[in-house]
Amino acid sequence: MSEPIVITIDGPSASGKSTNAKLISAQLGYVYVDTGAMYRTLAWHALQKGVDVMDAEAVAMLCRDWNAELVCLENRVWLEVDGCFPEQEIRTAETSAAVSHVATVPFVRDWMREKQRSCVQFGNLVMEGRDIGSNIFPETPYKFFMDAAAEVRQARRDADGVQENLAARDERDSTRKAAPLVIPEGAMVINNSGETPEDTSTRIIALVEEQRNS
Ligand code: CDP
Repeated sequence: MSEPIVITIDGPSASGKSTNAKLISAQLGYVYVDTGAMYRTLAWHALQKGVDVMDAEAVAMLCRDWNAELVCLENRVWLEVDGCFPEQEIRTAETSAAVSHVATVPFVRDWMREKQRSCVQFGNLVMEGRDIGSNIFPETPYKFFMDAAAEVRQARRDADGVQENLAARDERDSTRKAAPLVIPEGAMVINNSGETPEDTSTRIIALVEEQRNS
């Protein structure tokens, strides 16, 4: 059997990763993996358990003790916490403020890397995040880096109704030591400031096809 195809989409907050990754995975019939949701789930779990998200050792211990299962439901991968798949809860302002702190912990990143690489068990993937093309699947030829103007991204997040200073989180993600947000080597940079998601996802699918046929 041939190796699963992995399309990686990295980029800063509200750059359109999720919208496009979902459209592309639906169009191609690939499995969608939102790695940001995995980090958010861990941050939410820490908050629920009263673990200080600034305490790297405590966060690492929580992660070590967490018997987390990956489940693929309707072509989407979820990280299970105590028998449930939190969704709305992980998008709150409180979780958003906590997530980039747990994401700096080296033990957490190694733990996530192993989980995320194991997603190929579910088939071809569209995986979005901050370090997917640079650190999780550096070997894939299908790497994209999404970007949009800072004011466009902040306006998108405000429209979601979540109060958050994106610049502060982006700064933490780009300057951390472990697997910071970078443009992965070999990635195509896709600036989608003036485009509809349909235009952007069609453009990315065409680039993947071109690459596959080359
Ligand atoms: O929705 P948004 O683009 O704002 O963020 P997200 O994709 O849900 O990711 C939330 C946070 O998780 C990021 O700000 C990073 O701190 C962390 N993250 C990461 O470090 N590495 C990834 N591969 C994905 C997310």
